[in-house]
Amino acid sequence: MTSDRQQAAGRRTAVLRREAVLATVPVAVAALLGAAGPAAAGTNGSAGVGDPYYRLAGNGGYHVHHYGLTLRYDTTTRRLDGTAVLTARATQRLTRFDLDLKGLKVTRVTVDGAAAGVRRDGQELVVTPHRALHKGQDFRVRVAYHGTPKPVTDPDGSSDGWIPTDDGAFVAGEPQGAMSWFPANNHPKDKSSYDFTITVPKGRTAVANGVFMGQHTAHGQTTFRWQQTQPMAAYLATATVGKFKVEQYTTRDGIRVYNAVDPREASAAAPVLKKLPSVLEWESKLFGPYPFRAAGSIVDRAPDVGFALETQSRPLYDSAPDLATLVHENAHQWFGDSVSLTTWKDIWLNEGFATYAEWLYSEQHGGPSAQKTFDTLYARPAHDGLWAYPPGNPGNGANLFGTPVYARGAMTLHELRRAVGDQAFFRILRGWATAHRDDHGTTAQFVKLAERESGKDLDGLFRTWLYTSGKPNRV
Ligand code: TRP
Ligand code: ZN
Repeated sequence: MTSDRQQAAGRRTAVLRREAVLATVPVAVAALLGAAGPAAAGTNGSAGVGDPYYRLAGNGGYHVHHYGLTLRYDTTTRRLDGTAVLTARATQRLTRFDLDLKGLKVTRVTVDGAAAGVRRDGQELVVTPHRALHKGQDFRVRVAYHGTPKPVTDPDGSSDGWIPTDDGAFVAGEPQGAMSWFPANNHPKDKSSYDFTITVPKGRTAVANGVFMGQHTAHGQTTFRWQQTQPMAAYLATATVGKFKVEQYTTRDGIRVYNAVDPREASAAAPVLKKLPSVLEWESKLFGPYPFRAAGSIVDRAPDVGFALETQSRPLYDSAPDLATLVHENAHQWFGDSVSLTTWKDIWLNEGFATYAEWLYSEQHGGPSAQKTFDTLYARPAHDGLWAYPPGNPGNGANLFGTPVYARGAMTLHELRRAVGDQAFFRILRGWATAHRDDHGTTAQFVKLAERESGKDLDGLFRTWLYTSGKPNRV
């Protein structure tokens, strides 16, 4: 059941080393500045939120409540025209603040309607409002931009962000790609609501997150509107464009499903997509109510991508998914999307949980038990890549999506289950999704919750499975 996730992880790890040289001097200098943290920045918002894996990711000094994105994409010339309107609140006095945006040309920035100063510095879009913002002030930033978006290359060599396809674009922003197509506070620490208005040539479909609000065609162009009212991390936003077959329905639980499928993938995808309502029902029983109003799938044909993404409310697949992948990406709606990371180091809270959901699905649907999956993995020798680094401390951005995070992360949950028993274990999973719904969680908080729900001291278990190098001994 785990093979495709692991292969995806393996592919991503395999391509990484040759890109390691990308850490150029300016990046290193900026990293030092970022390391100084928000306090040192005075009345300038910092260039990062302080994530040690991505020093420049996100920005300090403000919180974005809402993004209004108006986009036009020409699938022939691959030109994107965008206007982003961010509604935000200053968390400190700000004479200056940053947004993250990589590439593209910025033509005008206003803050509360007045022209603002703007400077580009790598991925930082440095904005100087014409009057300083006071702490607690709500403000509105409007950024007009255009150009040919290019994917972002991550430390592990994978491309993400705006990835052109033969009929549109595959838009997947984890971990850093959001800034390739809109100016953002690009870190999961800052979650916001979104609406999207996307215009594409007639015959193409633009699919984003949340509820489909309608479309209209004029002068050979079709405009699609989408609304994501619940908080979302920037990396989970999409605006995928292509020639798609669209299917819409509402589930028994009132969830609005929108599936968009590349016709070339349709026959392979159909039997798997048909199971979406039953997968969501099964996951809701295990994890608590589905966290969003809308659901669905975007099945694209993007042969160079090599991964799927749990884009909020509507996972995105680079080809027809198998059932395990569908289960995995939809489990992320609870673990990763609704309950978000505060630091990329905690990535196992996303990938370990979504992988364990695959194991549970298999166990409860006539496949191998989770114990069997665990045992098969545990049988791997000490030099196997599975044990290359501990999942709770991957060490750097290049290791975020490696096998230790997915598989040993899931093994950690299995060991927890064995230690506390099924009743407490499923109470913990559900309690986690409920307590941190539409919010964030950290590994320390998870450990605490697991101890509270089980009445057991679990320090040793987590220390061994999450933080200790090498193949753990079984207890
Ligand atoms: N989070 C994705 C999943 O496992 C996979 C993924 C890893 C990914 N790295 C990525 C997606 C980079 C997009 C970009 O479901
Ligand atoms: Zn995943």
